[in-house]
Amino acid sequence: MAMAALLLALFSLSAISTAAAQIQTPNITLGSSISINGNSTYWVSPLRRFAFGFYPIGNGFMVVLLSTDGRLLLSSDRSNGSLIDASGVASYASVLDSGNFVLYNSNSNIIWQSFNFPTDTIVAGQRLIVEWTLFSHLSETNHSTGRFRIVMHTDGNLVSYPTDTTNTSRDAYWHSDTWEGGKNVSLNLDTNGQLYLHNSTGFTIKNLTEHRTGAFVYRATMDVDGIFRLYSHRMRIMVAYRRKKSYGNHSNWLTFVR
Ligand SMILES: *[C@@H]1O[C@H](CO)[C@@H](O)[C@H](O)[C@H]1NC(C)=O
Ligand SMILES: *[C@@H]1O[C@H](CO)[C@@H](O)[C@H](O)[C@H]1NC(C)=O
Ligand SMILES: *[C@@H]1O[C@H](CO)[C@@H](O)[C@H](O)[C@H]1NC(C)=O
Ligand SMILES: *[C@@H]1O[C@H](CO)[C@@H](O)[C@H](O)[C@H]1NC(C)=O
Ligand SMILES: *[C@@H]1O[C@H](CO)[C@@H](O)[C@H](O)[C@H]1NC(C)=O
Ligand SMILES: *[C@@H]1O[C@H](CO)[C@@H](O)[C@H](O)[C@H]1NC(C)=O
Ligand SMILES: *[C@@H]1O[C@H](CO)[C@@H](O)[C@H](O)[C@H]1NC(C)=O
Ligand SMILES: *[C@@H]1O[C@H](CO)[C@@H](O)[C@H](O)[C@H]1NC(C)=O
Ligand SMILES: *[C@@H]1O[C@H](CO)[C@@H](O)[C@H](O)[C@H]1NC(C)=O
Repeated sequence: MAMAALLLALFSLSAISTAAAQIQTPNITLGSSISINGNSTYWVSPLRRFAFGFYPIGNGFMVVLLSTDGRLLLSSDRSNGSLIDASGVASYASVLDSGNFVLYNSNSNIIWQSFNFPTDTIVAGQRLIVEWTLFSHLSETNHSTGRFRIVMHTDGNLVSYPTDTTNTSRDAYWHSDTWEGGKNVSLNLDTNGQLYLHNSTGFTIKNLTEHRTGAFVYRATMDVDGIFRLYSHRMRIMVAYRRKKSYGNHSNWLTFVR
């Protein structure tokens, strides 16, 4: 059922790609909520490619609420806490088909977006800018910070290290060989599965993977074993971002799940 729904979504996406700008994104309005125990488990993107919801760890009653005063709250019977530190008061939110979860103010300006808080993964359209790091998960089932990281350095080099080490070549075990790439080089992934390094004037200084074809959704993940891999998916995507607080025995992660 889920697979059928997704294939339909991918086909309709390619069929209407030129009209993509007209796709209506349902707004998540103030007072909306999703919960572990309730009937509404996820907020879903228009084409159902991504959803925002809970990771299936833990038990008990837990709600994410776009509160009436414009904050994204994580609530339990014991406590309420702001899930994120947005730069203003939210008027509504959306899960976009890119996988980005966005909060908007009353002028429809973005005040917070999950794309700016990557953990172990970037998806198509997302970037890793200078001084940002992806950390591997501890294991496939435990998504705490793991043993490896990959850093977009200010000199233009993309470098992998064990987590608790210095940023020196002595500790590095992989790099993109672009340490003369200039300032503000970013790692990018496009919808064709091409991973590349862009310099600040928009020039591709290095392609890390080749351009691909086919109706896939791509992600690049710093894996548990410390290898940075590109994945193509027909139906399942997870993009987690670290949340700031932890309550009870619940997961330390929210995630986008398909
Ligand atoms: C979402 O809300 C904004 C601001 O109120 C509005 O401009 C936009 O049309 C709404 N989008 C949809 C799909 O309802
Ligand atoms: C959840 O769904 C069940 C069955 O459809 C319904 O009886 C119940 O009232 C719903 N609960 C909420 C909180 O909407
Ligand atoms: C958390 O906030 C919700 C919604 O505002 C409220 O119903 C609930 O009682 C609050 N819980 C606590 C522990 O304050
Ligand atoms: C390594 O570089 C990253 C990105 O600039 C930075 O966040 C981190 O604190 C640095 N680690 C050490 C040990 O200096
Ligand atoms: C994940 O691993 C950390 C560090 O060992 C541990 O503190 C935490 O309880 C684990 N979480 C789960 C859900 O197993
Ligand atoms: C980006 O790369 C191009 C081609 O190598 C180069 O001409 C340009 O100066 C670079 N931009 C920066 C800001 O380094
Ligand atoms: C790099 O980006 C920062 C922040 O956007 C900006 O202040 C700086 O001027 C940029 N540097 C270059 C060389 O483009
Ligand atoms: C990167 O790949 C694109 C094709 O997708 C090609 O046009 C471009 O020249 C390549 N750039 C470099 C620096 O290899
Ligand atoms: C957390 O788990 C421990 C051990 O399973 C249990 O004793 C404790 O009551 C749980 N706490 C909550 C808040 O669920």
